[in-house]
Amino acid sequence: MAQPNSVQQRSVGITLLGCGIVGGGVARILADQRDLIARRTGLVFDVRHVVVRDPGKARCVGKLPISTDPHAAIDDPQTQIVVELMGGTGIAGELVQRALAQGKPVVTANKSLLAARGRDLFALAKRHHTAISFEASCGGGIPIIQALSHGLVANEISALVGIVNGTCNVILTRMTNEGWTYQQALAEAQRLGFAEADPTMDVSGRDTAQKLAILASLAFNATVAESDIHIEGIDTLDPLDIRFAKELGYVIKLLAIAERGDTGALSLRVHPTLVHRQDVLADVSGSFNAISVYGHALGHCLFYGRGAGQMPTASAVVSDIIQTALGTAALAFKQLNIFSEATPPAALLPFEQLQSRYYLRVLAKDEPGVMAQIATTLGKYQVSISAILQHESAENNHVPIVITTHLAREGALQRAIKEINSLPVIQPPAASLRIIDQPKESSALS
Ligand SMILES: NC(=O)c1ccc[n+]([C@@H]2O[C@H](COP(=O)([O-])OP(=O)(O)OC[C@H]3O[C@@H](n4cnc5c(N)ncnc54)[C@H](OP(=O)(O)O)[C@@H]3O)[C@@H](O)[C@H]2O)c1
Repeated sequence: MAQPNSVQQRSVGITLLGCGIVGGGVARILADQRDLIARRTGLVFDVRHVVVRDPGKARCVGKLPISTDPHAAIDDPQTQIVVELMGGTGIAGELVQRALAQGKPVVTANKSLLAARGRDLFALAKRHHTAISFEASCGGGIPIIQALSHGLVANEISALVGIVNGTCNVILTRMTNEGWTYQQALAEAQRLGFAEADPTMDVSGRDTAQKLAILASLAFNATVAESDIHIEGIDTLDPLDIRFAKELGYVIKLLAIAERGDTGALSLRVHPTLVHRQDVLADVSGSFNAISVYGHALGHCLFYGRGAGQMPTASAVVSDIIQTALGTAALAFKQLNIFSEATPPAALLPFEQLQSRYYLRVLAKDEPGVMAQIATTLGKYQVSISAILQHESAENNHVPIVITTHLAREGALQRAIKEINSLPVIQPPAASLRIIDQPKESSALS
């Protein structure tokens, strides 16, 4: 039964630029939850224009004010908030710029636009005393931007480790559970709509890196660009490594990692990683996302939920629209240090100096003394072995030998691998992956 409404209602005019997957979801929530939103916030949204490319296309919500003229829609004096859900960095950037230049606040889910033009657009918004909100740009429906900029603001953050690309997680989950190859798992993900026809941005790790740049900037009060991040994707992953990792008690996940080391320098990286079966991130399957944050006061905190898809992403966009209409987004935007010239660039730990545990797989001749040669080479570079796994069966007189190491330096490990690859008893190339152990919780907690 409808509850009596004690909040005075206010109408707010909005323009949606784009009505595809996310825009359609936003239109649906605004239509279906109109009463709920009005009861909770006193706001009634008047969707004045829905700008699309093809006005003839069927939409998931009926009776929308469809238009193909974005300029008229933005310039309409009754448009008070512009919601950019077109994607890309071209026309979307130009339209966001137009709205901001008129002092109109913008809500966007477009991390590519932020990665490419965040600094200019944020400066423009500040010059015109307006705001940009971007909750849906990272982690879909998970309110991680809110959490980092508000809920965790009292914490000094030591690490942020996340699974933030649903496409890669769907592919890796299939490869792990079904023993499929990368190509088989990708084809299935495309058939089910989890991967785009051109999956490059996702599987190369770039999408994950763009999200990490935003999350790390917020978490560490530093300017982080995509180019500051070491990126490796999942497209060259061999199912053999997934199988061996499983035997050793690990699951392979594409992780976004930002970690502050003892010197204060930030290690920023995206790569397939061995995660121990008992780590909470190991259980994050399919299209789900999760982000572990380590704060000095709170300790370990996990944000888990749907990182993409129509309604989860629309949930975050509508939250931003409401915060914008209420005026809280403008206050939050003023104190945000992201994409600001005043925010110093992050002090980066060179990737070579990363300290990590490693997984190595080499294909070696099945003959005496081979193990000793590998161990000697690793020892020469101060890489110490933690465990060895070898099966009896040999193909073409070669056997895979799997080694896990104690903590070693990335540079030293890569030099050792180069030398191992040149040993006559080895069939190159050796495969190597990093192993993550849960970052330590702050000593302030103990
Ligand atoms: N999909 C997700 O799960 C997800 C999750 C998080 C963030 N995002 C981000 O959300 C944004 C939108 O993604 P989406 O998946 O909703 O994209 P989409 O389904 O391709 O929708 C894009 C919409 O923009 C319209 N459009 C594109 N170019 C246009 C132009 N030049 N003029 C007018 N209209 C134009 C399209 O019109 P037509 O409908 O007529 O083609 C369509 O309605 C992207 O930045 C994306 O990265 C998406």
